[in-house]
Amino acid sequence: MKKLLTATLVLGLLGVFALPAQATPQEDLEKFQNYFYKKFPNTPKDDFINGVYSIDAASREQWESIEEFPPYELSIEKGEKLFSTPFKNGKTYASCFENGGIGIAHRYPFFDTSSGEVITLELAINRCREANGEKPLKYKKGAMADISAHMKYTSRGNTINIVVPDDPRAQAAYERGKKNFYAKRGQMNMACADCHIHNAGNKVRADLLSPALGQVTHFPVYRSKWGGMGTLHRRYGGCNKQVRAKPYKAQSPEYRALEYFHTYMSNGLESNGPGARK
Ligand code: HEC
Repeated sequence: MKKLLTATLVLGLLGVFALPAQATPQEDLEKFQNYFYKKFPNTPKDDFINGVYSIDAASREQWESIEEFPPYELSIEKGEKLFSTPFKNGKTYASCFENGGIGIAHRYPFFDTSSGEVITLELAINRCREANGEKPLKYKKGAMADISAHMKYTSRGNTINIVVPDDPRAQAAYERGKKNFYAKRGQMNMACADCHIHNAGNKVRADLLSPALGQVTHFPVYRSKWGGMGTLHRRYGGCNKQVRAKPYKAQSPEYRALEYFHTYMSNGLESNGPGARK
């Protein structure tokens, strides 16, 4: 594995930052966010929503010019159309969501105390379809990413405030996600935390690693590498594959728990999806 990594990255792996297993989510959050504020003192706190561009002036300019004619615009339009097109039974997506689905996407994922599971936005979209007699959509791209992009767009500017209710099942889901984030995996034996906490700001091959804080706020994203849109779980799968680990399925309980923890860690930041990335 070391052959693939730069010296800085390997050195950085020696850095110790692990959240104590017994801490409350709120304690985890403070520690997690303060780590990045200290590590990147020149990044304004509310700018972490811009991912790697929040810490890299060189690529930021290019990205800002891309954002002037955003490559995800078409996806938002398609998503809006799909969202307002009635199902065969005459109902629409709006009937499944609070406030007709407008300005609420930043509240996902949430822990549903009635079913005892983490509900992500994409899962809710498919549950809505199934409740209305429609077939579920694929989770990683296509129509699903478009609908998600439209809903996120209507939620731009809202503050993320994920809650872990006082329910042992919710706490277990949070802990499962946290464990997932810190678990070493794959032939390279690396955790999400190795790259996006300890080595945030360092390079792995040609890429500068983004801080884990603010990574989720702008999903789904249009990625030039994909030549299209993708959901957060598509990206999770890609990062698992980078370390030669077998990815989990999109919307598997593992990725939903991971998204729950990961998004909770960005509490207090603005929701700014969809986004554009390399
Ligand atoms: C070997 C290093 C490595 C590991 C391990 C890794 N990633 Fe990544 N990840 C990258 C690189 C490189 C990118 C692209 C540049 C960037 O935004 O950091 C990236 C990008 C991302 C992005 C997109 C950020 C954005 O702003 O669009 C997310 C989200 C992400 N990773 C989550 C994860 C999660 C969750 C895990 C653990 C399951 C993980 N990564 C493990 C290297 C890694």
